[in-house]
Amino acid sequence: MTDSKGLSAPYHPKNDGAWTREDIVPLLSLTGEKDLEKLFEQADRARKKYIGDRVHVRGILEFSNYCKNDCLYCGIRRSNSNVTRYRIEPHEIVEIAENAVNSLGYSTVLLQSGEDDHYTPGMIEEIIRAILERCDCRVALSIGERTLDEYRRFYDAGARRCLVRFETTNKKLYERLHPGSSATKNSFEERMELIKGLKSIGYQCGTGCMIGLPGQTAEDLAEDILFYNRHNINMAGMGPFLCHGDTPLAGNPDGTFEMALKMIAVTRIVCKDIFISATTALQTLKPIGGRELALQAGANLLMPNITPKKYRKLYLLYPNKVCTNESPSDCSSCVTRVIHSANRTVGSGFGDTLRK
Ligand code: 5AD
Ligand code: FES
Repeated sequence: MTDSKGLSAPYHPKNDGAWTREDIVPLLSLTGEKDLEKLFEQADRARKKYIGDRVHVRGILEFSNYCKNDCLYCGIRRSNSNVTRYRIEPHEIVEIAENAVNSLGYSTVLLQSGEDDHYTPGMIEEIIRAILERCDCRVALSIGERTLDEYRRFYDAGARRCLVRFETTNKKLYERLHPGSSATKNSFEERMELIKGLKSIGYQCGTGCMIGLPGQTAEDLAEDILFYNRHNINMAGMGPFLCHGDTPLAGNPDGTFEMALKMIAVTRIVCKDIFISATTALQTLKPIGGRELALQAGANLLMPNITPKKYRKLYLLYPNKVCTNESPSDCSSCVTRVIHSANRTVGSGFGDTLRK
């Protein structure tokens, strides 16, 4: 795909929509400044053609940092005893959501937590119903693995979006990173089945990978991109792996900003009308200008934090997380600035998926 002068057009060698791993790996391997510029421009054109200029905003509330899992990469894994744990009460979750929608103007509230069974299915249903009674918005869930029956109940309560990352499509690597995983529990297969099941319930389904995991290859990342189309995924949320010193992966290098940006760009080129978020992990690698670059390389979503300030420093999946000294209203004005400085407009309506 490349020659001595740089990238030869077209990026899609066959032009029949059937992308393969072999087509994608060379794009992820580009390094020259000119080649990268062309790649990001092509992604930006595809974004404009398939999505338009609107950037949708989802307010994310990190309501509990308790987690029963022990994922090797994650700062709030259950074995990390350096974490001060917190849970936000259901009535406070609803109040925070209400403020985010009715005062800050968000149209989606994304409820995120560690895998915390303290919140029973009944409690989650109540929270969803209470938010929807008070606010005209979408409720999205990012609460980890629950049974499909539970997710069906949450759908019936009114939740319409779900975010469950597959983390990596490399089964061996997945199993190495998730120590509790066995044939019957928390397995790679179960994660894949859950994602498919969420789609069959009717959820707009977000998923994604970490970029730059120890031992991960460009071939693995190409497979991650192919996964989105194979399963008709609505939203890709991907970010660089950021090494947390209190985890078993301490000492490993972080993923790079450049590879994260290439993943966004190639996902846009391959998956066309999928939604792609400029994630907090990406922003953490380049706090100034990082999200603007992502928006100009294929991304069309931002997820500002609506968690009250006092909890923010306790929800550290990775170190140096941005916005831990800011309040929900600081982040709200910040995202508007970012959208405008990337020459884009703030999305109106719920910002539902464009994928059928
Ligand atoms: N670096 C980057 N991303 C991480 N996540 C968890 N730990 C890390 C880390 N150290 C991501 C996982 C998870 C999401 C909520 O955060 O992909 O699904
Ligand atoms: Fe939080 Fe910028 S989004 S301060």
